Amino acid sequence: MSRSAHPAGPRHADVLPEGHYSAPPADLNTLDPKVWAQTVARDADGVVTVGGIDVKTLAEQHGTPSYILDEADFRARARAWRGAFGADADVFYAGKAFLSRAVVRWLHEEGLNLDVCSGGELATALSAGMPADRIAFHGNNKSVEEIRRAIEAGVGRIVLDSFQEIVRVAHIAQELGKRQRVQIRITVGVEAHTHEFIATAHEDQKFGIPLAGGQAAEAVRRALRLDGLELIGIHSHIGSQIFDMSGFEVAAHRVVGLLKDIRDEHGVELPEIDLGGGLGIAYTSDDDPREPHEIAKALTEIVTRECEAARLRTPRISVEPGRAIVGPTAFTLYEVGTIKPLDGLRTYVSVDGGMSDNIRTALYDAEYSVALVSRTSDAEPMLARVVGKHCESGDIVVKDAFLPADLAPGDLIAVPATGAYCRSMASNYNHVLRPPVVAVNDGEARVIVRRETEEDLLRLDVG
Ligand SMILES: Cc1ncc(COP(=O)(O)O)c(C=O)c1O
Repeated sequence: MSRSAHPAGPRHADVLPEGHYSAPPADLNTLDPKVWAQTVARDADGVVTVGGIDVKTLAEQHGTPSYILDEADFRARARAWRGAFGADADVFYAGKAFLSRAVVRWLHEEGLNLDVCSGGELATALSAGMPADRIAFHGNNKSVEEIRRAIEAGVGRIVLDSFQEIVRVAHIAQELGKRQRVQIRITVGVEAHTHEFIATAHEDQKFGIPLAGGQAAEAVRRALRLDGLELIGIHSHIGSQIFDMSGFEVAAHRVVGLLKDIRDEHGVELPEIDLGGGLGIAYTSDDDPREPHEIAKALTEIVTRECEAARLRTPRISVEPGRAIVGPTAFTLYEVGTIKPLDGLRTYVSVDGGMSDNIRTALYDAEYSVALVSRTSDAEPMLARVVGKHCESGDIVVKDAFLPADLAPGDLIAVPATGAYCRSMASNYNHVLRPPVVAVNDGEARVIVRRETEEDLLRLDVG
């Protein structure tokens, strides 16, 4: 196909169909540093580079689709979180966002702890040398086997999520002759997403034990009675992609209220409080995330103020950012396969991956940006929808974004901010093979999770 404009593009902003987009950017070749990994730039030929390597070379050597992860950016973000909270607090990277052995080693080297929520994540963490006492084990339905392995390994804390689990963990710890450090995850009635939070009526969910109706207080009563448990603190996680700190303010107020009740009833001041993760990142230029040092300052001030008011010693704070560390560090590199202009609507651009490598758009109506990365273009902006190759009409990667109207099959496009909850939620739908994760740093590319092969699929299918 020639690089001429498609019949349906360009579209002028005042005749655009309804959608989740702003007006086309002034220059489609500019890469907003807010949404791209730190070392991303264009070279003299207009080809995008990351970690000193251009995307054409990466596509030739590793194929498409691939997740391309900027190691220097990952380490810098991990270090920024660690530094922002300092020695009197702990940062647990939430492994659910993306976990691999290389990532575990980087976290270890940068002084972070790790939150895991399954036997598989625990095995990955331990096999890459994360000291067990720096691991927190989460989950609303940990199996007996998983609990046993975690206690045997010596994990630093297990976060208890139900009344059954309080007894289960205590029993297994006693069987193993151990006293397990635990926190209790409570729900404080706050639900926070992006710019809004709801301060009441969010007990209707599977995680945690509700503060309302005295259930959390009863859980504490039971945990304090059991010899197999050492209750070290209370845990609260209020949501995801949060920009506004007021949800944390309400959560901290309620958690500290519980700590005060515990002190009054049992004469015990619990030494730790975990405020979970959920801090937002920029998926598009419209998002304005806060810096780790601002978040650390705000959370520390909130907890200190609440504790002073309750006449409690300020507990050691921990947080569990996942997305905020890994999210911005990676982009997904795709090759354009087909281009379908729909007159009066938009142009459908099909890539060689889709909902199997990024389910977030289909699952959460997530918004992403996209750019042509194998060259620059002076063509007019074309309203595009980037879709995958799956047998599902909801197989959308980027709902509405502008790409140059001369886009053609064979071009490489990239979707930034796919480091979190993309590879970790990837599937084999339609027996599509899960892409590799390629870490780039200082001119070198290293596969840290290899591409799945058809042999991998057939090995699982035992006939
Ligand atoms: C308990 C807990 N901690 C931390 C996280 C990480 O959240 P995020 O990646 O949004 O920071 C989650 C995410 O679901 C969670 O449930």
